[in-house]
Amino acid sequence: MTEAPFVLDEQLARFELDAARARTSAEVQKLRVDWLGKGHGVVTAFLGLLREVPKDEKGAYGAGVNKLKARVEARLKELEGAAAAEAARAAESARAVDVTLPPRVPAVGRLHPLTVVRRRIEASFRSLGYEVADGPEVESDWYNFESLNFPPDHPARDAVDTFFVKGGGTGRDRLLLRTHTSPVQMRTMLSRKPPIRILCPGRVFRKDDIDPRHLPVFNQIEGLAVDEGITFADLRGTLAAFARTFFGDRAKVRFGPTFFPFVEPGVDVAVSCVLCEQKGCRVCSGSGWIEIMGAGMVHPKVLENGGIDPERYTGFAFGMGVDRIALLLHGLPDLRLLLENDLRFLDRVWSS
Ligand code: DAH
Repeated sequence: MTEAPFVLDEQLARFELDAARARTSAEVQKLRVDWLGKGHGVVTAFLGLLREVPKDEKGAYGAGVNKLKARVEARLKELEGAAAAEAARAAESARAVDVTLPPRVPAVGRLHPLTVVRRRIEASFRSLGYEVADGPEVESDWYNFESLNFPPDHPARDAVDTFFVKGGGTGRDRLLLRTHTSPVQMRTMLSRKPPIRILCPGRVFRKDDIDPRHLPVFNQIEGLAVDEGITFADLRGTLAAFARTFFGDRAKVRFGPTFFPFVEPGVDVAVSCVLCEQKGCRVCSGSGWIEIMGAGMVHPKVLENGGIDPERYTGFAFGMGVDRIALLLHGLPDLRLLLENDLRFLDRVWSS
């Protein structure tokens, strides 16, 4: 054995060591450049040295370098094949769907609790033949008070309770933010003929100090029915039917006398406490009853102001607070929860 082939055997061993560590396409590519690269590749350099080898050793040396070159080429080919297959496998598994992974649930918005309550109230009355009507939030004194039979010195007209619009006129045209949804009764009577059965949900405004039970903006739903021959029994039957659809079959209603300028007689309507089944709880303050609305037979003067003949027609009206009903249904301690959009609260209400 001559010396040159021994050196080449050593190079071959070094190459095998390098090759054993090359996995990725980039590593294999580097190995090819290191060993077969045109400028400084190891095999290339040994081939270049052939010129300097003494004549009588050229044969053995040349054979040795060629053996090294053939081995390096064959091994590189193998490694390149393996790296390409590995890359293909990785790409394939990146594309594949792992059906055992837990799903990523998208954050889906839901209806606000107030919207849900409002829609449920609307649905209860729709099933009784009511249509939804609408009216403006900025009203005139006439629609909000005068046409509804509020005497000129009624305390509700006081600037302490009502938001008046700056520069919004005087007298009956004076503009204000409606303090209740009752003006929609008047707008409806003036714009259509009986029979009338409408429901009007909307925001109302009062200068109340903010506390757990009061907000300066809240939501009411007004109802109005006008036709020939409507009696107090119809009012009673309608609200009892509503209470059953809305609060459940066992819900009862109780009427107590009270005063509202636009109805005669006027009543407070309470529903039996659905939370404690009238055993007495915190929500009904132990009484078993919860007041949910005001109602009454439409005052003849109000019918007249609405262009409806009180000799021929009668009607009833009612008004309820949506926020208050939402509080009751969900057993909530504070109205402000309904406005803050705190997801922890909303999630709790949604899942209750
Ligand atoms: N408008 C009244 C309020 O805001 C509620 C109300 C009471 C409406 C009696 C009515 C009614 O239609 O008949 O307190």
